[in-house]
Amino acid sequence: MADRRQVLRIGALAAGVPTVLGATGATAEAAPHRPGRSLVIGHRGASGYRPEHTLASYELAARMGADYMEPDLVATKDHVLVARHEPEIGGTTDVGSRPEFASRRRTVVLDGVAVTGWFTHDFTLAELKTLRAVERIPRVRRHNTLYNGLFEVPTFEEVLALRERLSRELDRAIGVYPETKHPTYFRGLGLDLETPLVRALRRHRLDRPGAKVFVQSFEARNLRQLREDYGLRAPSVFLTSATGGPFGDHTTYAEYLTPAGLRRLARYVDGVGPDKNQVIPRAADDTLGTPTRLVADAHAAGLKVMPYTFRAENQFLPADYRIGTEPDGYGRALDEQVAFLRTGIDGLFTDQPDVGVLARKLRTGDRVPA
Ligand code: G3P
Ligand code: CA
Repeated sequence: MADRRQVLRIGALAAGVPTVLGATGATAEAAPHRPGRSLVIGHRGASGYRPEHTLASYELAARMGADYMEPDLVATKDHVLVARHEPEIGGTTDVGSRPEFASRRRTVVLDGVAVTGWFTHDFTLAELKTLRAVERIPRVRRHNTLYNGLFEVPTFEEVLALRERLSRELDRAIGVYPETKHPTYFRGLGLDLETPLVRALRRHRLDRPGAKVFVQSFEARNLRQLREDYGLRAPSVFLTSATGGPFGDHTTYAEYLTPAGLRRLARYVDGVGPDKNQVIPRAADDTLGTPTRLVADAHAAGLKVMPYTFRAENQFLPADYRIGTEPDGYGRALDEQVAFLRTGIDGLFTDQPDVGVLARKLRTGDRVPA
C-alpha cells in the first residue's frame, strides 16, 4: 500500500501536480461561491426506474437529462472497482440463488457492525460478472423487478466508457460523481479504493480541476488522503449524515458543518453533500420545516451544497407533500424539490432524474414542454 501511494505521489510530482492542500479548486482561503444552475445527479443512476447501479440505470439517468451519474464504488477480490452501494451483494444481485456461491456466505465486521451475506471482496471480477442485478426494494418499486436478471454488475471502467459514449451521442458532457464506499474497511483488506479510482480518472483525463467530476465520501479523512497522498485534482464532496460521524473519526458530522468546520473542510474539498434534512429539517409532525443556515454557511466558506436523496414515493416525502395514503404511490415530489431549490442548493441527488430536471425548470421559470 505504502508503495502504491508513493508511486502516485511521485507520479503527481513528476507531472507538476501539487500534492498539498489547495491542489484543486479547494483552497486554503475560501473561494467565493459562484451560484450556477443547480445540478441534477442521477442517484445510483435512475434507480427509481431501473435496478440501481447498472449501466441501464446510468444510461436512463443521462437520457432523462441528469447532469451527473452517481456510481458508488467497492472493490472485488482482484482489486477492480465495481459499482455497488455496499460490499454486501445479497440485496442487489441474484447471488443468493446461485448454488455455486452458497459457501461464500459469511459474516464480516463492517465499520464496527456485523454483516452477513456475500461480499464483493470474496469474488473475482470474472465471478461477479456471472451474477445479475436485482431490484433492492421490490415491494416499493415493483416495476423495476421487470429487469431482474438482465443486467451485470458494472465496473467503474465500464461506467466511464458509458459516460464517454453518451456524452458524444447526447452532445453534452455527462458528469460522473463516484463515491468511495467504506474506504477504511477496504484499505484494511489490502484493497484500497483510492489507487484504482485515481488511476481510472487519470486514464480518462478526468483528474483535473473543472472536470465534470465530484469524488465523494462519508469519510473526511479519505478525501484528505486523496488530495494529499494521491494528488487528486478533481473536485470532491464530503457527505454528511444527520447523526453520528465518519467511521473512526472523533469529529461528528454536525461539527464538520459548523461555520468553522466548513472553513476547515474548504481546504481540501469543494462541497458538502448533506442529508436533505440538514438543509430543511422535518417539523415535529413530519411536515417540511424551516431551512437551516447550512446553505449560507457553506457558501460563505466557498463550498457547494448538494443534498441527498430525493425520491418521489410518499414514504420518502414530508407529510405535507404526500398524496393519499399509499406509501409507494407518488406524492408532490416536484414541489418538494422546488422548495429545496429555493434554499440555494447547488444540486440534488434524486432516484428519479426526470423529476429533478422538471423541478429545476419550474424553479428557474424555464419553459416546461406542453
Ligand atoms: O452519495 C450521496 C448519497 O448517495 C449518499 O447516500 O447511501 O445512497 O450512498 P447513499
Ligand atoms: Ca452514494
